[in-house]
Amino acid sequence: MISAIYPGSFDPITNGHLDIIKRASKLYENLYIGVSEEESTKEKSFSIERRLELANTAVKEMNNINVIKFNGLLVDKCKELNCTVIIRGLRALSDYEYEFKMALMNRTLNDEIVTLFMMPHEKYTHVSSSLIKEVASLGGDMSKYVPSYVESALREKFGK
Ligand code: PNS
Repeated sequence: MISAIYPGSFDPITNGHLDIIKRASKLYENLYIGVSEEESTKEKSFSIERRLELANTAVKEMNNINVIKFNGLLVDKCKELNCTVIIRGLRALSDYEYEFKMALMNRTLNDEIVTLFMMPHEKYTHVSSSLIKEVASLGGDMSKYVPSYVESALREKFGK
């Protein structure tokens, strides 16, 4: 059985993430959603507990998915969980450089682990958690891009 992990900040989880999760869950019998606990590299808007809660709510009806938190090196977590595949979503060309560096660095750290890039539905190619937060913080309607409970969390966070 091949296990895969879809790692990210999920700050918060979006419909674009969910699109990738649904596609990846058809390829692997066991899919982990790895929510990064790391605070030092990228400032988060939602706490790790809230990000985990929103991700868990999002996948509660899918039965081959486990939401976990992780810190430290992703490849170490992969080894611990026996995951040989890292899933990453690739949207616009602008994602490429960051993803390319990360995939090659992870491969240098552990050549047994493969990074698999997947494209979300084209209606999500311009969507990111940061853009959603920016628009939501200014009172914009983000209901097309996030599940309703995430929309409520954004409203609660930004008071709009
Ligand atoms: O959703 P993001 O913020 O683009 O996800 C980035 C994430 C969490 C996947 C990446 O920062 C990561 O893997 N962090 C764990 C630490 C690590 O292994 N860093 C080296 C990666 S080359």
